[in-house]
Amino acid sequence: MDKIAVTGGRALHGSIPVSGSKNACLPLMTAALLTDQTLTLTNVPNLADIGTLSSLLGSLGASVTHDRDANRLDLRVARLSSPLAHYDIVRKMRASILVLGPMLARDGAGTVSLPGGCAIGARPVDLHLRGLEAMGATLDLRDGYVHASVPRSVNGGRLRGVSYRFPVVSVGATENLLMAATLARGTTRLVNAAREPEIVDLAECLSSMGAQIEGAGTSTIEIEGVDALSGTEHRVIADRIEMGSFMIAPAITGGDVILEGGRLDLVSSLAEALDAAGVSVEEVPQGLRVRRRNGRLNPVSIVTEPFPGYATDLQAQMMALMTLAEGTSSITEQIFENRFMHVPELGRMGAKIEITGNTAQVTGVESLRGAPVMATDLRASISLLLAGLAAQGETVVSRVYHLDRGYERVEEKLRACGASIERISGDD
Ligand code: UD1
Repeated sequence: MDKIAVTGGRALHGSIPVSGSKNACLPLMTAALLTDQTLTLTNVPNLADIGTLSSLLGSLGASVTHDRDANRLDLRVARLSSPLAHYDIVRKMRASILVLGPMLARDGAGTVSLPGGCAIGARPVDLHLRGLEAMGATLDLRDGYVHASVPRSVNGGRLRGVSYRFPVVSVGATENLLMAATLARGTTRLVNAAREPEIVDLAECLSSMGAQIEGAGTSTIEIEGVDALSGTEHRVIADRIEMGSFMIAPAITGGDVILEGGRLDLVSSLAEALDAAGVSVEEVPQGLRVRRRNGRLNPVSIVTEPFPGYATDLQAQMMALMTLAEGTSSITEQIFENRFMHVPELGRMGAKIEITGNTAQVTGVESLRGAPVMATDLRASISLLLAGLAAQGETVVSRVYHLDRGYERVEEKLRACGASIERISGDD
């Protein structure tokens, strides 16, 4: 398994290009299941998860052409040859559940393995399933699989439009039902829907495929089902989590970095928190410019929430930053129940953090010390790398396969701004 070694203490100066969003790209790829024509996605990030979902779609009958150099993906599902999403692939990536809504909408049947547990929390898929049931699907949970079908007798095998209120805001369940509703009979109203930019991106792509959607980006989305969707070409939105993670790099090391292609509206909660901490974020023609003001960082308090609130996927990175603030910050995690696994690892670098329930009190120290640390999940990994950029001496982050799921060319991007960082390939 690869490791990444960082020698800290260098202020970062330069530009970092923002990649296409992984979390937008995954549902967009599953939208290819809704049509027999070609869906072309551009600005596709080169990440392990994209390969995993490509394999899954391939196993369902998709022809997939991935031009990695051009960041372009062509997907065509002339017909669903096998409506079965196997455990071997689903267990690697929970977003695989997103194939269920489109498969049901297109062919009235689909079987998907239940995703297993996840390091950051239980992450059930009950909301996806309840919503599809409300749209007329019959579900049978057996042998670790969800066998779903729409009885031919009811609606000719088609899902039906409903008004469905999500009891909890869920990004994935909103995406699944949004896609399912595009081909359902009648109007679907999704209430208490997620408002994340990835939902808006998906709705834009579906609309250009011929779907009738209103309200994406608000908490009520209305979809008028149509008989068929066509192919299209769509550019994947910028990755706000990658962008936010790299915004914390000059914040923690000092320096001045431009995030090329960055957009303030995608990271406004983070920008507010950074401003309070003493880091300026401004829009410039190339994207976003992030500069640390003089002196020590101020402590800030954040609470993770659905968009437009502070993103849970940027919580670990903010915690790394706050380990160096002058005073005590409070960080409350409300989305996932077990998302503080980076805390003991940051502690190995000298951070002072106490956890009570779902809140971490972070008391800033003057400096961190490099140490061997272990990545436990995707966003925890980058937080350790960020801490390493600011720490005295060398930090070696192991298990960086987590990092590779969500950050492309991470060493290259940081090195271009003056970071001392290298990948150590290895088997242990
Ligand atoms: C997506 C993102 C992930 C991000 C998360 C929250 C992708 C591929 N992943 O994950 O990076 O951290 O949004 O912003 O886009 N829940 C249920 N039942 C369900 C579904 C969700 O109880 O059926 C709960 C979850 O356990 C969690 C909360 O709802 O506590 C929010 O989860 P959700 O928004 O669904 O996250 P994902 O779509 O899985």
